Amino acid sequence: MARLLLTGGAGFIGSHTALVLLEAGHEVVVLDDFRNSSPKALERVQELSGRSLDLVAGSLGDPATLERAFGGGLYSRGGAIDAVIHFAGLKAVGESVRHPLLYWDVNVNGSRLLLEAMDRAGCRTIVFSSSATLYGMPERTPIVETDAVRPINPYGHSKAAVERMLADLCETGADWRVASLRYFNPVGAHPSGRIGEDPEGIPNNLFPFVSQVAVGRRPELQVFGSDWPTHDGTGMRDYIHVMDLAEGHRAALDTLLREPPQLLTLNLGSGRGHSVLDVVRAFEIASGRSVPYRLVDRRPGDAAETVADPSLAAERLGWRTSRSLEDICRDGWAWQQANPSGYR
Ligand SMILES: NC(=O)c1ccc[n+]([C@@H]2O[C@H](COP(=O)([O-])OP(=O)(O)OC[C@H]3O[C@@H](n4cnc5c(N)ncnc54)[C@H](O)[C@@H]3O)[C@@H](O)[C@H]2O)c1
Repeated sequence: MARLLLTGGAGFIGSHTALVLLEAGHEVVVLDDFRNSSPKALERVQELSGRSLDLVAGSLGDPATLERAFGGGLYSRGGAIDAVIHFAGLKAVGESVRHPLLYWDVNVNGSRLLLEAMDRAGCRTIVFSSSATLYGMPERTPIVETDAVRPINPYGHSKAAVERMLADLCETGADWRVASLRYFNPVGAHPSGRIGEDPEGIPNNLFPFVSQVAVGRRPELQVFGSDWPTHDGTGMRDYIHVMDLAEGHRAALDTLLREPPQLLTLNLGSGRGHSVLDVVRAFEIASGRSVPYRLVDRRPGDAAETVADPSLAAERLGWRTSRSLEDICRDGWAWQQANPSGYR
């Protein structure tokens, strides 16, 4: 059992991972300023697991918040942090193009401040939320970890910069244990329908958009590009159920804490691609609702197909995905139906 700090632990992926870690018997401390999440997610995580977690409410950019997280002793049980899972950050590609300095500040500077606080506290084990976005326009698919890192937007650059910072720390000989996990497309929800993704405003990603159309919150889905070289002309992505992803974090932590200090850089994906229209059809079957859509032009910067080769994660972590597109749609729909306005 370890005492774990989850930055951004109230968010979509963080809340599901907090649940999996509590159920595995770990102690969980969440640091979050709720800029893109709700404290209700944490209430529900505690209700589902039957266990309590500690909360340090505040921002990564605030030194006093970091001080409290690493042993200021203000939270109930106290004790040293054994490892950090670093989810906190901004993730909207379009926003990053409009406000690049915000992304360099929150994602890169925020990570630097966190790593400094960890170093001061003598905690040198971290799992970092990286992204397949850093591969940019991949030359081939499935993508392996040694393929070129060539981000095409500030969000992707911020993830690549933090990966670089972590790799540099591993070169210092100070026994850092680091896993940079490059997520493909995290979707779905906990099967209870009690926690799930709750995007503010118009969703940036396909799944929340499709479920909001199915539930009647939005009139139709726009499908960007119908002339890609794929089986039905629409773009293909590797969708990973958020519970598979949460279990991948537990496996990465177990590996880091068990093995000698190392740097792991791993794709977390299913290894299978589904087109936009595959998703629409699977969602219609799961929900029993129709999802009206309109085919429009391609968006600049999109790729035809982005699919992970997840074999290195299978080899190093003994982990692979076990949930299907049907499971993703069923669980995502259960969440959407029970919470049509998210946590609000
Ligand atoms: N969801 C995806 O499609 C996806 C894909 C690849 C990588 N990622 C990465 O995974 C991580 C988690 O993503 P998510 O989908 O759960 O996002 P999310 O927005 O739901 O969660 C992020 C959490 O961090 C918090 N936060 C943000 N900045 C903070 C700060 N400076 N201080 C304290 N708290 C802060 C937010 O309030 C939120 O609770 C992010 O780093 C994201 O870039 C996400």
